[in-house]
Amino acid sequence: MSTALVILAAGMGTRMNSDLPKVLHKIAGAPLLVHAMKSGAAIDPEKLVIVAGHGADEVASAARDWDDRAETALQEEQLGTGHAVLQAREALADFDGDVIVLYGDTPFIQPETIEKIVAARALNDVVVLGFDAADPGRYGRLVMAGDTLERIVEFKDASDEERAITLCNSGIVAANAATLFRLLDKVGNDNAAAEYYLTDIVALARAEGLSATAVTCDESETLGVNSRAELAAAEAAFQARARAEAMENGVTLTAPDTVHFAHDTVIGRDAVVEPNVVFGPGVTVESGALIRAFSHLEGCHVSRGATVGPYARLRPGAELAEDVHVGNFVEIKNAVLDEGAKANHLSYIGDAHVGEKANIGAGTITCNYDGVMKHKTEIGANAFIGSNTMLVAPVRVGNRAMTGSGSVITQDIEDDALAIARATQVNKPGLATKLREILQAKKAKRDKGAG
Ligand code: UD1
Ligand code: CA
Repeated sequence: MSTALVILAAGMGTRMNSDLPKVLHKIAGAPLLVHAMKSGAAIDPEKLVIVAGHGADEVASAARDWDDRAETALQEEQLGTGHAVLQAREALADFDGDVIVLYGDTPFIQPETIEKIVAARALNDVVVLGFDAADPGRYGRLVMAGDTLERIVEFKDASDEERAITLCNSGIVAANAATLFRLLDKVGNDNAAAEYYLTDIVALARAEGLSATAVTCDESETLGVNSRAELAAAEAAFQARARAEAMENGVTLTAPDTVHFAHDTVIGRDAVVEPNVVFGPGVTVESGALIRAFSHLEGCHVSRGATVGPYARLRPGAELAEDVHVGNFVEIKNAVLDEGAKANHLSYIGDAHVGEKANIGAGTITCNYDGVMKHKTEIGANAFIGSNTMLVAPVRVGNRAMTGSGSVITQDIEDDALAIARATQVNKPGLATKLREILQAKKAKRDKGAG
């Protein structure tokens, strides 16, 4: 059976106290909405509809950035979760498979849980994801009769007896598209919140003699984000899981609690990550690489046997081949370093290609930006860049070529050549002593005048 995902993301998120739509606040470098999309991607949905309202344009473009098949349905007024799902009807007009409804502010539903819902749906007309709540609070309650889900009652509308139920509604629902929209047409808003409740479809389905059931997951998966404090708690939960997973996969984390992962960080077996390392989105680190303390990596690839840091910054487009060394206070952006190349101290390498085993001396800068355009620097294999060389791009340093320390290189250097581009040194015998005497005499005169 083909499946469509409908992700509800129209809410304002008042408690975030933010200009940004709630679902665009980030965990591990990705919007909450993207986390929900990733959960749903497990079942390879045929259609993907985001119901957006507040900040709909921004929400739509974030959704498409992640998956360009994402369609957006506009919910102009937030009249309830049932009303929200109805807005997806038009986008699903030609679709006759199953619909799974997810919430854009609920980032941790595991792919296996969605698979469980799909399996249960094969045997039931309506499936709801529930969880046993330690503190059921204001969640909707699932009223069961054996394995049959009879109805969902919202906290606001529940009797004391119903409020005593601890099996709660996560909000996630699955049903055939035609059934879902037909039932939703019957939903009214005669309730405590005067909203069109998605949850009402269960009792309506049962009244028609359709089957309904609940599958359950751990409460941690259903964690939703409604405030900055909950966002921080969700981030902490994500990080705790990412660290545990990395270690299970054979990565050494010297001080796990200080390492910060992105939602898509990939690290190979036997890589070592020292304390206080931050991974932004889009990083892959191969087996056996060493990421030393206080390094910041984003949008980059570190190959087997490479060493990064301490205190290194790899920015988007940094591509380190095997056995490359990038040392302290080195920033690399949009640059490929071929096998065995070294930049060990205090350098900026941007928009560059560095050949095999080239050695970049301390303080080297690729001057890649002229204030208007970016230009490329090419450094040949086995080249030796003297300390404090300015490479004014576009410029090419040949294979095995060298630059004298302190050079400002503005012209290409051919293979095997040494380029020196700095003022010539002049030594004046005895002049240091003479100069010191003159200065000391000056100071003595001044001190006397002051006293
Ligand atoms: C909902 C459920 C409740 C469940 C809880 C789990 C209903 C009626 N209630 O309650 O049983 O225990 O979630 O968290 O479904 N949204 C829209 N448009 C709307 C209304 C909501 O897009 O008109 C979106 C929100 O942005 C949010 C999600 O739907 O992502 C849930 O809405 P919310 O108002 O938080 O529902 P709850 O009252 O928490
Ligand atoms: Ca909620």
